[in-house]
Amino acid sequence: MTTPYRHEPFTDFSVKENQAAFEKALKTVNKEWLGKEYPLVINGERITTEDKIVSYNPAKKDEVVGTVSKATKELAEKAVNAAAEAFKTWRYTSPEGRANILFRAAAIVRRQKHEFSALLVKEAGKPWKEADADTAEAIDFMEYYARQMIDMAKGKPIESRDGEYNQYIYTPTGVTVSIPPWNFLFAIMAGITVAPLVTGNTVVLKPASATPVIAARFVEVLEEAGVPNGVINFVPGSGAEVGDTLVDHPETSIITFTGSREVGTRIFQRAAVVQPGQQHLKQVIAEMGGKDTVVVDKDGDVELAAQSIFASAFGFAGQKCSAGSRAVVHADVYDEVLNRVIEITEAQTTGNPEKHSTYMGPVIDAASYEKIMGYIEIGKEEGRLVSGGTGDDSKGFFIQPTIFADADPQSRIMQEEIFGPVLAFSKVSSFDEALEVANNTEYGLTGAVITNNRAHIDRAKHEFHVGNLYFNRNCTGAIVGYHPFGGFKMSGTDSKAGGPDYLALHMNAKTVSETY
Ligand code: NAD
Ligand code: ALA
Repeated sequence: MTTPYRHEPFTDFSVKENQAAFEKALKTVNKEWLGKEYPLVINGERITTEDKIVSYNPAKKDEVVGTVSKATKELAEKAVNAAAEAFKTWRYTSPEGRANILFRAAAIVRRQKHEFSALLVKEAGKPWKEADADTAEAIDFMEYYARQMIDMAKGKPIESRDGEYNQYIYTPTGVTVSIPPWNFLFAIMAGITVAPLVTGNTVVLKPASATPVIAARFVEVLEEAGVPNGVINFVPGSGAEVGDTLVDHPETSIITFTGSREVGTRIFQRAAVVQPGQQHLKQVIAEMGGKDTVVVDKDGDVELAAQSIFASAFGFAGQKCSAGSRAVVHADVYDEVLNRVIEITEAQTTGNPEKHSTYMGPVIDAASYEKIMGYIEIGKEEGRLVSGGTGDDSKGFFIQPTIFADADPQSRIMQEEIFGPVLAFSKVSSFDEALEVANNTEYGLTGAVITNNRAHIDRAKHEFHVGNLYFNRNCTGAIVGYHPFGGFKMSGTDSKAGGPDYLALHMNAKTVSETY
């Protein structure tokens, strides 16, 4: 009997002992984890290639976090073939046994929780709090999906007639290619790896090229927890070469992707093509970008609104699909809310994420830095720059939290995913207009409404078209099991990771009817 699921608690870093423990973990990671090399893993075999992907610390761009071997097209094919072979036996293993592997993996991570979080500080430039939440979410996915699998193994009740016994059972699907993004480098990578594993599928994991080290270490955790050879395979590589090969392979059954709209739609399209020898249609789970809005109603609490807008926009430097990069504020409170957000933002520190006092670290790499700085220039044409606007990439990729006021709802900074610390404000004169602006992008991932008006809450529930809608809080920070996560429209397939229907997406439902 397992205990009921409850999410992994966040570390309270205001407690001195917790601060000291995290400082110690950073030292351990610096000394013992950094700079290592990781091979590919195919059918349990360690394969080292000449070509490498080097993972750098975005806060200290010369510091090497680790190096991974880079797969070729041939090695990617070999990995899918190994996973297809392993599927022949893994599919028949007991769901409880698979769930127990996830419980063990969660326990292994929990024992070194701060070390894993310290690695996230190094590899993605996450401040402590964000890194701690990322590790907690990875643990949550394992704990939640393990319990859910045990429950699903019972099947779902259906009707039986006299002389007939009917069952509705879930069976595994096949080889799953897991393609995560770099931003929730632990949580999403782990979630889209363990969901197919626990449901009896075998996995080829292609990590994000900016953050392959955490993925390599997680594969080691899974092996230690008991995942057999061939059931988990690890093939870092270029999206274009390795990614396309994995997606196109006729033995691939599921592609579970989280990342940009551009790559997600490409995968969706390629997966629809039936390849020679392919005996099934491929299933695609694609969770993509966002352009998320915090709406402030005229009777909303101004302080709550400002804190919610700030947290939504600048947590992890705005590099969350859920980031609230648009504030749509009623004219009656617009100036007050805007001024308070500027005040809160300017009181925070941007800099080295290894320091406890840092609120915001760097953006992930040079390409992101250039892209975001480009949008800041666009913003200067489209809106009124009221805070930030500068960057410094001499040592790491640092950009000041940047706020534009009075942006036109149709402007590029209000429509396009910038994926950085850039927030735009638009003024509206009614709640009708606020909803219209909130819905006017091609995305539909998260949103928040700050209001004390019950009728407006009810309207927004129906008329604000996003997958995750929050009231009187920020629009980031969904918790596994509590806030199943996934978006509408061009934000993706709305798979609702961490929710009750998620595992079923990795399985074929089978109706069995026995006459007696
Ligand atoms: P990305 O699309 O550039 O990369 C995602 C993954 O796809 C990486 O592993 C990359 O190597 C791989 N890839 C690239 N080309 C490929 C190809 N041709 N075939 C197969 N795989 C390929 O995204 P990113 O920059 O890593 O992440 C940021 C994006 O992810 C943002 O748009 C963000 O909104 C989105 N995101 C969405 C969610 C969500 O749940 N909706 C969560 C986190 C991030
Ligand atoms: N779980 C992440 C959030 O909600 C994506 O911010």
